[in-house]
Amino acid sequence: MESQTELLLQRRFNTIGKYSPLFYEQPIHLARGEGVWLYDTDGNKFLDCYNNVPHVGHCNSRVVNAITQQASTLNIHTRYLHENIVNYLERLTSTFSEPLNAAMLTCTGSEANELALRMARFLSGSQGIIVTDAAYHGNTEAVGELGTGFMPEAQTTKRVRSFPIPDTYRGLPNVPPEALKDAYLKHIEVAINAFQEEGLGVAGMLVCPDFANEGLLNIPEGFLEEAAALVRAAGGYVIFDEVQAGFGRTGKHMWAHQWYDVVPDIVTMGKPMGNGFPLAGIVSNLDNVNAFTKHAMYFNTFGGTPVACAVGNAVLDALEEDNLLENAVTTGQYVTEGLLNLQQEFDLIGDVRSRGMFFGVELVLDKTLKTPAKKQAKQIVNLMRHHGVLISTIGPDDSVLKIRPPMPFKPEHADILLNALAKAFTAVSEEV
Ligand SMILES: Cc1ncc(COP(=O)(O)O)c(C=O)c1O
Repeated sequence: MESQTELLLQRRFNTIGKYSPLFYEQPIHLARGEGVWLYDTDGNKFLDCYNNVPHVGHCNSRVVNAITQQASTLNIHTRYLHENIVNYLERLTSTFSEPLNAAMLTCTGSEANELALRMARFLSGSQGIIVTDAAYHGNTEAVGELGTGFMPEAQTTKRVRSFPIPDTYRGLPNVPPEALKDAYLKHIEVAINAFQEEGLGVAGMLVCPDFANEGLLNIPEGFLEEAAALVRAAGGYVIFDEVQAGFGRTGKHMWAHQWYDVVPDIVTMGKPMGNGFPLAGIVSNLDNVNAFTKHAMYFNTFGGTPVACAVGNAVLDALEEDNLLENAVTTGQYVTEGLLNLQQEFDLIGDVRSRGMFFGVELVLDKTLKTPAKKQAKQIVNLMRHHGVLISTIGPDDSVLKIRPPMPFKPEHADILLNALAKAFTAVSEEV
C-alpha cells in the first residue's frame, strides 16, 4: 500500500509538475516548526540548519502576533496613508549608512532586484549589468538574465556580462595569490570596455556582498571596493543583493556589505525580512527614488501593506530584543571552530568558510587539485537528514555544504549539527 507521503508526492507531480524543485531523495513531509526545529507528519524532529527565511525562528510568537493583530484590524495597499509603512521604513533605513535613506517595498527578492535593475538603467541611461559567472538573483525575465548559475535567460542576453567568481580558495589558473585581486579586477574592466564598445554602456554591477550562491566565498581584500570604483567611474550603479546575506546573518553588522569599505547605491533585500511573510524591497537614496518614481510610477499591490510592515517591525524587534546578531557572532564562532576540527579529521573537507551564522564547507576529492566532491556533498546532505539535521549544498559544482540555520541557533544545537556531520563524514569517507 502506498503511504500518505507517496500519495501526496504523486498528487504534487500531477499538479505542480515533476520538475518543481523538491529537496532530498526521499522528500520530507513537514507538519510544523518551532524555533530551530521542524517536525514531519510522523512526528520526527529535524534540526533546521538550512532555512534563513524563518530568520528569527519558525513560528516566532512576535511575528505570529503581529500578523494576527494587524490582519484583524486593517490590511490594505499603500495608496492610503498608514503609519506602519512609515514607521517601518524609518527604522529600516536607519540601519544603513548615509546616503541610503529611502526605501520601496515589494513581495519577493526577484521583484526587488527587478526594481533595482529598472532604477539603475533609468538613472544611468545605460543597459549593461555586471554579475558573477555563478549568480542567481531571482526568477523574473530581466532578473533571469543575471542568473549565470543556471537560468536560461542568462545564456542569450546581451545586456549582462559576467566575471569569474572572486574566490581566494580556488583562485585563477596561473595567478599567484598576491596577484588575484588585480586579475579579477581585470575581468571587471573587460566587461566595462565591452559594454562601452557595444554602445550599451554600464548601468551597474549587481552582486551579493557575501557571494552566497557562489559558495559563500572569501574574496581578495580590496576587490569589492575597487570593483565598485571601476563601475562608478564608468557611470554605473553599485547594487548589492542582500536577499540572503542581510538582516544580521553575518553577525557583526546588520548588512553584509558593511564588512567592506563601500556604500552601495542600491541594496535589495527579501527572504528573512518577513520571516516567511512575503516582504522584500530596496533601499537607496531619496533623490534616486524620487527621480525614478517621477518617471515610472511604481505600485505593488501587496508590497508594504500594514500587515507586511507590522511583520517587518516584529522581525526587527526579535533581532534586537533577543540579541540575535551577538548570538550569530558567538555561536557562529563555536560552529566554525567545530567545522575546522572536522577539517583536521576528514580529507574530504578542503575549505571551511564562515561569516556569522552562515557556513560553507567545501568538499574536494583531492586537497591539491581541489576536485569538487559533488557526489559526496549530496551523500552528506542525505545522511544528515537521516541523522535529523537539515543542510544543503551551493556553489557552481554543488560541492559546498550550505549551513545557514535560523538565527536563534545556539551552541547546544551546534553540538547536534557537529556530531551528525562527524558521523556522515565518517560514513562517506569510508567509501572514497
Ligand atoms: C541572492 C538572491 N537574490 C534574490 C533571490 C530571489 O528571491 P525570491 O525567491 O524571493 O524572488 C534569491 C532566491 O533564492 C537569492 O538567493
